[in-house]
Amino acid sequence: MEVLKFDIVILGSGLAGMRAALQAAKASNGKARIAVISKLHAMRSHSVSAEGGISGVLYPGEHGDSVDLHAHDTVKGADYICDQDAVEVLVNHAPEEIKLFDHLGVPWNRDDKGKIVLRAFGGMSVPRTAFAADKTGFFMLSALYDSLLEFRNIEIFHEHIATSLVLEKDGFNAITAMDLSTGEMRAFVSNACIIATGGFARCYGFTTTAYSSTGDGICLAYEAGIPLKNMEFVQFHPTGLVPSGILITEAARGEGGYLRNSKGDRFMSKYAPHALELASRDVVSRAIVSEVEAGHGLRDEKYGDFDFVHLDLTHLGEEKLNERLPMIKEIAIKMIGVNPAEEMLPVRPAAHFTMGGIHTDIGGNAMWDTRRNVHGLWAAGECGCVSVHGANRLGSNSLSQCVIWGKITGNSAFQLSRRTGGRNVTTQLRKRFEREEGRISKLLESDGSVNPYDLRREMWGAMDRYVGAYRNAKMLGQGRKKISSLLHQFSNIYLKDRSRIFNTNFRDALEIRHMLALSSVVIECAINREESRGAHARREFPKRDDKRWMKHTLAYKAARGVKISYAPVAVTKWQPEERHY
Ligand code: FUM
Repeated sequence: MEVLKFDIVILGSGLAGMRAALQAAKASNGKARIAVISKLHAMRSHSVSAEGGISGVLYPGEHGDSVDLHAHDTVKGADYICDQDAVEVLVNHAPEEIKLFDHLGVPWNRDDKGKIVLRAFGGMSVPRTAFAADKTGFFMLSALYDSLLEFRNIEIFHEHIATSLVLEKDGFNAITAMDLSTGEMRAFVSNACIIATGGFARCYGFTTTAYSSTGDGICLAYEAGIPLKNMEFVQFHPTGLVPSGILITEAARGEGGYLRNSKGDRFMSKYAPHALELASRDVVSRAIVSEVEAGHGLRDEKYGDFDFVHLDLTHLGEEKLNERLPMIKEIAIKMIGVNPAEEMLPVRPAAHFTMGGIHTDIGGNAMWDTRRNVHGLWAAGECGCVSVHGANRLGSNSLSQCVIWGKITGNSAFQLSRRTGGRNVTTQLRKRFEREEGRISKLLESDGSVNPYDLRREMWGAMDRYVGAYRNAKMLGQGRKKISSLLHQFSNIYLKDRSRIFNTNFRDALEIRHMLALSSVVIECAINREESRGAHARREFPKRDDKRWMKHTLAYKAARGVKISYAPVAVTKWQPEERHY
């Protein structure tokens, strides 16, 4: 295995990873040697498909907005199980990040006077989401990528899939990865590593996320003994386009779109009389499921075997769609042949975001438990649970989280690398690399009788059916049985492709194992939490129960399954209240 030494290793090249690289490169005056490792071409990271925008109070006082109001909306959206000190970091840093991206060249939508325009988003009391039409992620990621190319001290390893996270007693030592283009294994050795590999909503079949959102970094951390926090909270976005699940941005409702049932009624008035279509996502998604269950959904065989409701944008007019939602229009026309200026779109809730992830402190430093941090390891973006989103993230808060904790962790990783210098490659470390090389060679030769793609299809079906917007013990129990059988079968897979050159069969098998492992953690945590809070709605426990459950779940990998423990929630200014929208 080729051994490469760096000052800082960043696993993942979405907004969080690239923002971390930019920060570390700047802080070191272009001196620290930084590796960015991506299993894709870096510009294909899932952040590129973020549509609606990034939140931040750009104009305090306008419409009565303030950072405290942003924080309050976020805490309420989270159903109070977020850490409020971390939320305060989010809201205080968001405006300066939006301005930074302005300087990096993001073409924010502006009014006639050149002022950045803000749009409304779900669960936000006032418009505070900056946007670049409905391609915000694309523009932000492009701007970052261009900036990184100016730094000679940043090396981007495209199409390298990580296979293990090497931690010794003292903390982070290395990441091993396969170069997909050649099949060669590389070890990236350093004192400082930031994991920024995104979420794992691809465990579900009906999802807005890319095929690459498989939670690799989260799974590697879990298997290295780091606990995962709040894994039961999976967000369903109300408007996945039927039948594919492609995201129809919440901005479509922010710009004035309506949801209608089979009778043509704007049913959200029953569920959220004030916020209507702009209630928080958990509320809107459950409302859609309830409408369908009450027999007010629609079906059309040309859209497959799905019940759906309608998203009505027809009254917005072609001009507004072209200016504010051009990609939505294009997606609808290309994918289902419907022009949203003329006809309503079929939509239903789709798995969109995973609030849970690697347990970190407020600075993004990974934690072994409630007190001890993992030396030299940070997690930023969706893969880390810092936790600002609690049980339900508000739309457009994710881009802010990615870039803010990208910056914070980039700084911290640089400071550590400066203090500690380079890491020695010990004999013990070399032995670990050899063992890993052997493990991967063996996996490449898998010749069992199970096709991993069958496991993936069955996992999608099980997660969609049993671990959705509403859950109960019986369904979760069925999900547990199914996923544990699939995990068991994984040890008997075969690979059709055993070569080393661009072996996507091998890559997919790694990802499928990660998703199966994380699905089982989601299910165990969901069974354990006997209350309804945010995105986790248990039919037999319909109320939030602050007395028993105002605590973060920590899930550890144990010899047999998952071991659960807890961490306290930081409450600063906002005491838990019942939520109304
Ligand atoms: O609907 C959207 O554009 C998604 C935004 C988000 O998840 O933050």
